[in-house]
Amino acid sequence: MALTRLRGFQDQIGADARAVALVEECARTVAERYAINEIRIPLLERIELYERSSGETSDVVQKQLYRVPRSPESQGAGDQVLRPEGTPGVIRAYIEAGLDRSDPEQRFFYSGPMFRYERPQKGRFRQFNQFGVEIFGRADAACDAELMIMVDEFRRALGLEVEFEINSLGDGNCRPAFRAALLEWGRAHLDELCEDCHQRLERNPLRLLDCKNDAKLAAGAPRSSDYLCDPCRKHFATVEELLTQAGVPYVVNPRLVRGLDYYTRTTFEAVSKAVGAQSAVVAGGRYDGLIEALGGAAVAGTGFAIGVERIAIALDASRVRSKSAPDVALIAMGEAAAIRAMALAQTIRAARLRVEMLSPERGLKALLRRADKIGAHYALIMGENELARGVVQMRDLSASTQREVAIDAVAAELAAAAAAPRG
Ligand code: HAM
Repeated sequence: MALTRLRGFQDQIGADARAVALVEECARTVAERYAINEIRIPLLERIELYERSSGETSDVVQKQLYRVPRSPESQGAGDQVLRPEGTPGVIRAYIEAGLDRSDPEQRFFYSGPMFRYERPQKGRFRQFNQFGVEIFGRADAACDAELMIMVDEFRRALGLEVEFEINSLGDGNCRPAFRAALLEWGRAHLDELCEDCHQRLERNPLRLLDCKNDAKLAAGAPRSSDYLCDPCRKHFATVEELLTQAGVPYVVNPRLVRGLDYYTRTTFEAVSKAVGAQSAVVAGGRYDGLIEALGGAAVAGTGFAIGVERIAIALDASRVRSKSAPDVALIAMGEAAAIRAMALAQTIRAARLRVEMLSPERGLKALLRRADKIGAHYALIMGENELARGVVQMRDLSASTQREVAIDAVAAELAAAAAAPRG
């Protein structure tokens, strides 16, 4: 048997890993600007946590959970699962720490792998990373808008084009009427509904709107906007007003119901054309009522999660690659030079430049080819002769120019060159 990776799982190597790290770093920088604190939670949780939050009728819980046996001795599928999303675990941790009662207003971000047994395709994996944000204790529409403004800031920092789609699903007050209208509509169109929708109809009629098989039919279904109660309508109007004021372009998509059960009022997705069919790169919304449903106090919640790999796919790979290239390839010829070069590398790194020491076991020509291949800006060459004179040859690889520099002055010269704009 070949020891290949599992289907839907990825090795992220070189530029791919760098792209993912870049997305996470950028999200972290933006989140910190919004005064959001990090939370780290386990990868493994009880299955009931997701049954009671993501939703027993959701695809995530019905078909996609990775079950883990409780211990190596226990038989069969376990009742512990690898987390398919971050929101329920963050709420569990918040309640377990007693914050819902002692200090309910909290702003958290998290970053890490999620697991869903999905049919793999471009942008859809069985292990993927999410960078998520959850805000607790804020029921106001400004908080929903601020999250979308934050996502917009994040995507702009990466130079990424997205389109925001927003909707309101109403709340416990007005949703039942909308649900009943959908149920009635579904029953009236039973013959036209696809097989999946027959199941959706009884379990969760809202998901009829999500039908990928026959979008045209769903276009004629009742719309949540026609059923919103006054407070929900006002909430949504404020979100729209704040987005417009912030210059965040959006479209209202009345079919945006989301695949998880806990949403109330605002839902949103940021969609990118660069990823293919799996175009939602960020998704989220409000989930008032969920904290209480999981055993906590009646505290409002709202948040989103970034699909880190999907954003990485949408980024320009060549731009990412240059980020990981070393500033300096250090070439030492001979044993004595190699020892001195090691100390030099540390001095240059202390000046915050990236240095890769090349293996001393090849000829100069091969080493210069290698320096080119790894995309270094400079090659520093130190042979026995240079060592004896206390100098190195500093070669600008893109300009193909070379000059001699005193060893003690190299770090400062390189730092000055790195700070100057490159022609
Ligand atoms: P979600 O829509 O299930 O929402 O996932 C959020 C994002 O994660 C998606 O828009 C997508 O970019 C990415 N994603 C989901 N599944 C996969 C996959 N199989 N492969 C690659 N990327 C994927 C949530 O998970 C909610 N917890 C978001 C949220 C936070 N709502 C409120 N707070």
